Amino acid sequence: MLDIRMEKTTQPKAKPADESKLGFGSIFTDHMFVMDYEEGKGWHDARIVPYGPVVLDPAAIVFHYAQECFEGLKAYRRADGGVQLFRPEKNGQRLQATHDRLCIPEIPVEDFVQAVAALVKVEEDWVPHLPDTSLYLRPFTIATEAVLGVKASRTYQFYIIASPSGAYYAEGINPVKIYVEDQYVRASPGGTGAIKCGGNYAASLLAGEKAHELGYSQVLWLDGVERKYVEEVGSMNIFFKINGELYTAATVGTVLPGITRMSCIELLKDWGYTVHEGKLAIDDVMKAAKDGTLEEVFGTGTAAVISPVGELVYEDQKATVNEFQIGPVTQKLYDTLTGIQWGTMEDPYGWIYRVD
Ligand code: COI
Repeated sequence: MLDIRMEKTTQPKAKPADESKLGFGSIFTDHMFVMDYEEGKGWHDARIVPYGPVVLDPAAIVFHYAQECFEGLKAYRRADGGVQLFRPEKNGQRLQATHDRLCIPEIPVEDFVQAVAALVKVEEDWVPHLPDTSLYLRPFTIATEAVLGVKASRTYQFYIIASPSGAYYAEGINPVKIYVEDQYVRASPGGTGAIKCGGNYAASLLAGEKAHELGYSQVLWLDGVERKYVEEVGSMNIFFKINGELYTAATVGTVLPGITRMSCIELLKDWGYTVHEGKLAIDDVMKAAKDGTLEEVFGTGTAAVISPVGELVYEDQKATVNEFQIGPVTQKLYDTLTGIQWGTMEDPYGWIYRVD
């Protein structure tokens, strides 16, 4: 249990006047959570302080060797005015796995959830009210020791910042166009593909820019060994509905274990669908598109929620999915997941964590 010190801002900012124009991740609230780590002392000095710049030594390890990582989750406004989180302990568990892989000391899951809930409570008035908006929370850890040797830092800081946000994609719930990347790779076995470290995202930027120039919103990554099997989109996991059954890559080391992905699999199985978690060759996806059995494609992620895919391009082949319309399973997943998240539907799974 953390003992969280509170330092309130003396200069609160004006809240966004028009919640329909929030965009994603560019407006920040009045406060942030901070906690320090020092070898021998452990994690300590948990505090909520005014949001502001971070001062670091230019030699801090994070700047040179990218020993850092992050999480993403949301606080949702319920119709009755209350505020709730979605499976925050899953983010805490995934952050631990990421810390382990990056030689960063773990933060207990209960402390993580307590810190998130405490910041949300302080920033409750920043949780937007309009449908499809939320307070996006970005926990992150940085290595702060000032030394140029390549080694694990002996000091760290853990932060949580909060951003009232709308849809991640400009397209909102409308289908996106995806470029299947066959030149660059995102992850390979034994690497860091399964964790949320910034380096994974830095390495994806070039392919993303290439896709944008060609008119595609995102890149679909293939496996790094054979460049044959579909893996993930980088900002989301991806599912394919072929001939009535669902397929998504297994999270066995190169694919991020998404919490929305996990929740969708649980929902789909509950609804009686067969869900295959394993290898699906891009050639089989394109073949299914040609013979009419590729019924739906959608991405899942905290920021992206459920994002229908309307078009895939791979080498010289183009596949239009479901006539560029959102499919029935995609729509049902979106409605159920957001219904539970926004508290307009029952939560039979115990996924909701109320903050009020
Ligand atoms: C999230 O969905 O929360 C993520 O962290 C993805 C991010 C690249 C926006």
